[in-house]
Amino acid sequence: MTHPLGTYPIRTFDDFRNVAQLYQYSRTVLTALELDLFTAIGGARTWSIAALARRLRADQRGLDILCRNLAALGLLVKRGSAYRNTPLARTELNRRSAAYRGAYLDLITNHWHDFTQLTDSVRSGKPLDADEPESPAWRRSFTWAMHHRSREQAKTVARFLDLRRARTLLDLGGGPGTYAMAFLAANPALRATVADRPAALKVAREIAATHPAKARLSFAPLDFMNDPLPGRYDVVWLSNIIHIYAPAQNVGLFRKIHKALTSAGRLIIHDAFLTDPHGLYPIDTTAFALTMLLFTDTGNTYAARDVRQWLRRAGYRHVRLLTGMGKRKDGENALIEGRR
Ligand SMILES: C[S@@+](CC[C@H](N)C(=O)[O-])C[C@H]1O[C@@H](n2cnc3c(N)ncnc32)[C@H](O)[C@@H]1O
Repeated sequence: MTHPLGTYPIRTFDDFRNVAQLYQYSRTVLTALELDLFTAIGGARTWSIAALARRLRADQRGLDILCRNLAALGLLVKRGSAYRNTPLARTELNRRSAAYRGAYLDLITNHWHDFTQLTDSVRSGKPLDADEPESPAWRRSFTWAMHHRSREQAKTVARFLDLRRARTLLDLGGGPGTYAMAFLAANPALRATVADRPAALKVAREIAATHPAKARLSFAPLDFMNDPLPGRYDVVWLSNIIHIYAPAQNVGLFRKIHKALTSAGRLIIHDAFLTDPHGLYPIDTTAFALTMLLFTDTGNTYAARDVRQWLRRAGYRHVRLLTGMGKRKDGENALIEGRR
């Protein structure tokens, strides 16, 4: 089956048109989220279009076309002229499910409007909100989005990384503390500190409040670019941070972290890295640089090779890519480690 969603590299005009119109698929799933359609369809029930239209107060023809598209994309199952949710739609996309990833879905939905301004950011080189200070409310919803993005990935990483000999871990820029909590759950002898901005730590405290390992977790409000790092750690975990900053800023941060490591301490970087010789692929990592252009002053996505070089320049030894964690999820499961 040829699949327009997979048409790159672009070679023909048809390929070009398919990619130029990929927004149709984005828009379809975002409209479903805006209607809260997966929640309305719910667990096991199959809905006729007429009943669903009444429930959602939507037009029958509109909903028929939308649902057909969602079924074609694999999010709904079509039986005759009726529809039900697939397992994914009834869990992670359904507000009533414990697995709902609402804050992350809201972030993705809001990006639609932001991406319409990409041309402005390319012209100016500046983020969209260059003149506005960050609000605590924005930081709060972003931090929840990070939690809803990382919940499952954090468990995978915690299973993969051997932290048995570590006693102290700093989750730097840890946001909701999702990774710190997963490491604590997997390593009973570990204590962890989540360091981030105060508004992010407020969310981390709320999430930690019901976590069985909360007694081994502490919080450090700081700006890690400008403040000293508190304490010394066997492991510093730096997840989804380096793409926010420019190469020289990252090297400076690596040096600062080096001083906060115990003698056998390790810095572990978790991020989406470019892996091909030309710095183009994986393509979602390249696309993620667009998000950094829209939202940060200096962010970008980087080649694993370059990041390893930065670590060596900052004084780290035994620098290596940790492979074997399994399938990529959310473009973010590559790990690079450096030892003090
Ligand atoms: C993309 S989020 C990643 C959160 C978490 N590490 C994860 O992987 O899910 C980046 C986090 O870094 C924090 N951050 C970025 N720059 C920071 C700085 N200079 N000082 C403190 N926190 C910072 C942000 O507040 C945010 O919580």
